[in-house]
Amino acid sequence: MYQIKILNKISPVGLERFESDRYTVGSEVAGEDGIVVRSAPLLDYEFPESLLAIARAGVGVNNIPIDRCSEAGVAVFSTPGANANAVKELVLCAMLMSSRDVDGSIQWVREQVKAGVEVSTVVEKGKSAFVGPELYRKTLGIIGLGAIGSLVANMAIALGMDVYGYDPYLSVNAALRLDRHVHVVQDIRELYKRADYITVHIHYTPQTKQMIDEKAIAAMKRGVRFINLARGEIVDDEAMIAALDSGWVAAYMTDFPNNALVQTPHVVAMSHLGASTPESEQNCAAMAVDELKDYLENGNIHNS
Ligand code: MLT
Repeated sequence: MYQIKILNKISPVGLERFESDRYTVGSEVAGEDGIVVRSAPLLDYEFPESLLAIARAGVGVNNIPIDRCSEAGVAVFSTPGANANAVKELVLCAMLMSSRDVDGSIQWVREQVKAGVEVSTVVEKGKSAFVGPELYRKTLGIIGLGAIGSLVANMAIALGMDVYGYDPYLSVNAALRLDRHVHVVQDIRELYKRADYITVHIHYTPQTKQMIDEKAIAAMKRGVRFINLARGEIVDDEAMIAALDSGWVAAYMTDFPNNALVQTPHVVAMSHLGASTPESEQNCAAMAVDELKDYLENGNIHNS
């Protein structure tokens, strides 16, 4: 009988995969063999002797103490690809929202109507008040061409965009998934120089911490629109705010805002919702549970 501690609410599609005669599953389980977690911070978690594996229903593992897990022989699994489509669709939304100032238009309509202006007048005035570029024939730069980045690349090609991708760890499989029109560059400055929009799809690690800093931003095109649905720490917020203030960056779309960013014009600040679709939640939960079970029952290792 395996004891499984569930530290966050996950889709029932995942929980149903634990057959009741082999697994005790719940948030209060003690002496756990396995943990299923979404975003609960485990950095200070006291591992019981019994713990064999942690499965994260999500991609990033920055809430898990990887070094301590390695020392203790605890396997760690995540679910790359399981939420890729959800994030891809939000990238499209973010590009459109910033280009067409959808956010600004919605707020403006509300304010005008509240102030007593006739709706039909507001709608008509908005036609020329909110004018922004189309995505067609613009250039998208993608940093990271893994499960999410490659889907974004192929979507952007279908939209008629020019696409430049950068990924020093590009695997053969990932390269094969890419539309043949995607330009893969070896030097990130090539992407910075060309892109009207840049989106980042990489893990947060000590190497990627604040990699989008003042120098990187200065190498980008004036008027670039930047999307970060990966992790807030990848971007140096102060440098980004300065670039937004000076107009060098036209817009910053992120689902990892902080207080300063929320108050900065041209920031589209969302809650962390890149992966928040029922489909993605089901995929992540199912994959995490399957990986954990396969490890506990058969010793097989996936995505560690
Ligand atoms: C991920 O790491 O999978 C996404 O950021 C969503 C999440 O944190 O659950």
